Amino acid sequence: MNDPTRTNIENWLTYAEELGLAPFYRDRAIQEQSNPPAAIAIEAAAEIPGPMPKPKQSSALIAAAPIKPAVTFFPTAAGPTLFEAADRIQGDTLEIIRTDLGECTRCKLHKTRNKIVFGDGSEKADLVFVGEGPGHDEDIQGLPFVGRAGKLLTQMIEAMGLQRKDVYICNVVKCRPPENRMPERDEIAACSPFLIRQIDAIHPKVIVCLGATAAQMLLNTNRSISAFRGEWLEYRGTRLLATYHPAYLLRNPAAKSEVWKDLQKVMSVLGLKPKSAGAAASQR
Ligand code: URA
Repeated sequence: MNDPTRTNIENWLTYAEELGLAPFYRDRAIQEQSNPPAAIAIEAAAEIPGPMPKPKQSSALIAAAPIKPAVTFFPTAAGPTLFEAADRIQGDTLEIIRTDLGECTRCKLHKTRNKIVFGDGSEKADLVFVGEGPGHDEDIQGLPFVGRAGKLLTQMIEAMGLQRKDVYICNVVKCRPPENRMPERDEIAACSPFLIRQIDAIHPKVIVCLGATAAQMLLNTNRSISAFRGEWLEYRGTRLLATYHPAYLLRNPAAKSEVWKDLQKVMSVLGLKPKSAGAAASQR
C-alpha cells in the first residue's frame, strides 16, 4: 500500500473512532469475510479511501420524484462512504450508541447545551419520528418534543391510535442550537452518525421526518420539502415519509389537514386505526 493511501485510510479510521464508530469497522471486517454487504436503498459510494465523503443523490428521491435533480446536497459526515457501503452494525443497541455518544463535545453545540437529548421511546418501535433539534424545554428536560410543538406531536401520535411509548422520537442534532436556530452543517455532520445508528438499531417499518432538516439530512438532498412531502420514499430499505414540522403547524394550523393525510398513509401501512373520531377530528 502506498503512503498516501495508507495515510488516507488512517485518517478515515481516526475520524470513525472520533465519531464513536469503531465497532462499525470491526463489524464490517468480520461480515465482509463471510458475507458481502447487502444491497441497500441509497447508492453506495464504493471505496473508503478518498479525500472526503462524496455526497450522492438518494436513489429513493430519483425513483420517487420525476423532478429535476437537486443541484447540491448536504455533505453529511454520515455520508455514503462510511455507511452505505455496509450493512447495519450487528448487535448495535440504543444503549451502546448512547454510551458511544458520551458527554459529547464533537461540535460547538455542546458549549451552550444543558442536556443532551438522545431520543425517547421504544427500541422496538415500528415508527420513528425524526425532528430537527431540541428547543428550550427539551434542553432542560433532556427529552425530545416536550414543548409546545411536542404537545402537538403527542396529540398527532395519539390520534394515530398510538402512545408516545409505542414510537421512537429523536432529532437530527442532539443538543439545542442557540436561539433555536437551524442546526449548521458541521453540527449535523458531527451528530448524524448517531441518528443513523439509532434508526438502524431500531429498524422501524416507517420513518416520519418532521420538517425539512430531517428529511434533507436522511435523504441527502437540499430539495424543498414541498417537492416530496407526503410521498413514500426509501431510506436504507425503510419506508420514509416527510411531513411538516409540528412547530410549522403551530404557525400555520391550516396545514394540519395535510399532515393528517400524511399520517393516515402511515397508519395504513402500519395497520393502525384512529384512536377516536374526536382525536382524529382535532387533526383536521
Ligand atoms: N423541535 C424539534 O425539532 N425537536 C424537538 O425535540 C423539539 C422541537
